[in-house]
Amino acid sequence: MILVTGGAGFIGANFILDWFAVNDEPLVNVDKLTYAGNLRSLAPLAKDTRHRFVRGDIADAALIGELLTRHRPRAVVNFAAETHVDRSIRGPAAFIETNVTGTFSLLDSVREWWSALPDAERAAFRFLHVSTDEVYGSLAATDPAFSESTPYAPNSPYAASKAASDHLVRAYHHTYGLPTLTTNCSNNYGPLQFPEKLIPLMIVNALAGKPLPVYGDGRNVRDWLYVRDHCSAIRTVLAHGAPGATYNVGGNAEMANLDVVRTLCRLVGERRPGLDCERQITFVSDRPGHDRRYAIDASKIRRELGWSPSETFESGMRSTVDWYLANDAWLASVQNAEYRQWVDLHYAERAEA
Ligand code: NAD
Ligand code: TYD
Repeated sequence: MILVTGGAGFIGANFILDWFAVNDEPLVNVDKLTYAGNLRSLAPLAKDTRHRFVRGDIADAALIGELLTRHRPRAVVNFAAETHVDRSIRGPAAFIETNVTGTFSLLDSVREWWSALPDAERAAFRFLHVSTDEVYGSLAATDPAFSESTPYAPNSPYAASKAASDHLVRAYHHTYGLPTLTTNCSNNYGPLQFPEKLIPLMIVNALAGKPLPVYGDGRNVRDWLYVRDHCSAIRTVLAHGAPGATYNVGGNAEMANLDVVRTLCRLVGERRPGLDCERQITFVSDRPGHDRRYAIDASKIRRELGWSPSETFESGMRSTVDWYLANDAWLASVQNAEYRQWVDLHYAERAEA
């Protein structure tokens, strides 16, 4: 079996649902259920004995040690993190607690348990750490895309905390021989994403007739990957990645934010004729330290492991828009008082530019 952390979040939940769609190997899912974790996302598995949910913190060494001893997983896949850049600007402490101290604690619990395993199990074990392209910093328009050897230059508290966690994972491989794998992925989008991130926030606001708040000039560029392609990349790296290696994962879909929002408006308009949400686009004051461009060179994972994305930005966005239109109960459930408070506080302060 495998142990997954943060499996009630956006990517973790997609990973778990996909995992059981392609195999029957049992999985234990440890999640703290912060504002970003939602068991409703895993409702299809409610009666499925292959999935075992445990509410807990990756920094709880006693709990993690007990789960490792009891279940003897062949792998740990670490999704658990604080993930929203804007929240990291407003309150960085939680990012240091979970992403740095929490990842450290998880690594150390795993190392202690793993080092006492019989040789064959020790050699076969994998610790896969899910990370981001934001650790590499910001690119100018003509710079080459990030490769695995691009120096780290994180700019936000979120990116810095993920960079620190990547360094700890690297150190646990080099110092203790823990068979680690790290993936650095570009921006994900798709079903089950919490509507504080660009794409689901814009879909929610488009449908509600609210402003679509584009930061700065809207020309910041991200590479976008459909979440199920990220999940297949993680499964591929887990199965075939070289211990100690890092792999960049991307969607070959660099887009300026304004173009992302226009695409989304077109697709929403096709499904809801009469809605012309481009008129709702509103330029608001920029994010402090806003990275201009991210781009991923994903040639290593393609060359060495044969992985490439299946979805284009257009096909992935169609599925995403359709999913949000069909899942208003899920959307309503996450738009609770805490969510509304975040949106009110965060966007009230961004005067129209
Ligand atoms: P998310 O914010 O949707 O979910 C994070 C999950 O982790 C939540 O379920 C939360 O309850 C849980 N969690 C938080 N702190 C915890 C703790 N201390 N112990 C246990 N569980 C805890 O995040 P996501 O978008 O699904 O991202 C998952 C991982 O992928 C993160 O490590 C993130 O850095 C990385 N990543 C995300 C993207 C993206 O575009 N979303 C891109 C590249 C990499
Ligand atoms: P986001 O989804 O927060 O991901 P990240 O900051 O990790 O890339 O934002 C994606 C891009 O969209 C980023 O350039 C910031 C921009 N953005 C807006 O313009 N308006 C918004 O309301 C949000 C949330 C993001």
